[in-house]
Amino acid sequence: LWLAVGIRRRQPGEPAVENGLIPYLGCALQFGANPLQFLRSRQKKYGHIFTCKIAGKYIHFLCDPFSYHSVIRQGRHLDWRKFHFATSVKAFGHDSFDPRHGHTTENLHQTFLKTLQGEALPSLIETMMGHLQDVMLKSDTLSPSRDHWQVDGIFAFCYKVMFESGYLTLFGKELGEDKCQARQAAQKALVLNALENFKEFDKIFPALVAGLPIHVFKSAYSARENLAKTMHAEHLSKRENVSDLISMRMILNDSLSTFNDISKARTHVALLWASQANTLPATFWSLFYMIRSPDAMKAAHGEVQKILGDSGKTVDPSDPSLKLTRDQLDNMPVLDSIIKEAMRLSSASMNVRVAKEDFLLHLDNQEAHHIRKDDVIALYPPLLHYDPEIYEDPYEYKFDRFLDNKGQEKTTFYRSGRRLRYFYMPFGSGVTKCPGRFFAVYEIKQFLTLVLSYFDMELLDPGIKAPPLDQSRAGLGILQPTYDIDFRYKLKSSQ
Ligand code: HEM
Repeated sequence: LWLAVGIRRRQPGEPAVENGLIPYLGCALQFGANPLQFLRSRQKKYGHIFTCKIAGKYIHFLCDPFSYHSVIRQGRHLDWRKFHFATSVKAFGHDSFDPRHGHTTENLHQTFLKTLQGEALPSLIETMMGHLQDVMLKSDTLSPSRDHWQVDGIFAFCYKVMFESGYLTLFGKELGEDKCQARQAAQKALVLNALENFKEFDKIFPALVAGLPIHVFKSAYSARENLAKTMHAEHLSKRENVSDLISMRMILNDSLSTFNDISKARTHVALLWASQANTLPATFWSLFYMIRSPDAMKAAHGEVQKILGDSGKTVDPSDPSLKLTRDQLDNMPVLDSIIKEAMRLSSASMNVRVAKEDFLLHLDNQEAHHIRKDDVIALYPPLLHYDPEIYEDPYEYKFDRFLDNKGQEKTTFYRSGRRLRYFYMPFGSGVTKCPGRFFAVYEIKQFLTLVLSYFDMELLDPGIKAPPLDQSRAGLGILQPTYDIDFRYKLKSSQ
């Protein structure tokens, strides 16, 4: 009977199991309504590990941060590719990247490491800094004035500035765009269209990951396909200053895969999404919390002025050409802490692995649990990020939470008197850790440095509460605010 109704019965040595009340969906609705509350209540009842049926899958939630390392150590039993590649195919519609499926022999992981980290970073940083200043001060995206305040939503502001700058940094500019006004207008229209299409597609992203087919969402489907059309090789080859990531992927798509042109273009849409979907809300939360906290503003201003002053840079909005080297960006512990604290409060990425075979998962407390083949093991970092034992007053924003008493990066956090190896995980863990994480933090630091240098900024309502997190995206990364917050800005008058 158990088998007939698709309900799992706990076997000896297995974690406690909740099948939920609804066939197939299991606990999906309760989990979806408030994942943190759901997991906390089960953790209280069952302990460090328990199993929930969610949308047909049995997911073992591991809640003990000291055991996170066990999952990473016992990686040989776990497959990360199955879930990740399948999710990307579902959402973006390209052929599978899993070499086992025979469409490509590219080692994507290696491509990402080579083109987003190490020696690839200085040029990404420099290009981004140039675009950020163009978008803030030279193009008509913002048109700030010295004489009067401009009012905008903080999310809307971050979206415009970061999307355009990030898009141009990865995908380059049209050849000859600088020299001709008509081309400039066409370039602007292309980016604005991309932004609108991206927004439309991103709205339904959680539904696609949950398994709904994209054809149900007509406008999101055409938005995705419109984005893909602009990313066909014939268009990309007419662009200059394309990032190593995209140019290398174009070469590897051509040389190592049997993807057709549409599939190739859709792989670039997947990268556009990966590079923007988390960065945009992370920038919002960083700017919002910073502006709302006078202490954070003061400390950030001090740090930015010192870095720019030490290198003899003058801030001039009529010739916006500030540059920050990687070393300088690495030397900004206040901005680092401001960004980390914003992401601690807003990140909800779930780390997922699939069991390749039946095996025994050993936890830190010497317990061992039987895991069945094809079951999922999940880590949910908000359990850490909101743990009052690790972070005092966890719901409060404290800009200096990640600074030690010398004002440098704080890396020692404790739980039950034991030092934690994992205490901050917005970028995932182990093999699937975000390959763009260094660039992501650099670009947000550059953004904050520039808005602090060029603009005076104020909240319209200085006492405003933080907007609630949009939980519909829980599991997928940095959550968006459920509504925007207004602020005003103008060019600094002291320049
Ligand atoms: C994957 C977070 C920005 C490129 C991931 C994953 C997370 C993440 C959690 C792994 C998902 C998993 O375990 O399944 C973030 C956050 C960002 C950010 C919080 C910003 C604040 C970026 C940027 C880029 C990027 C700027 C590129 C320019 C990627 C790529 C992957 C990825 C290519 C897929 C890696 C793979 O499957 O091997 N990101 N990311 N990310 N991220 Fe990021």
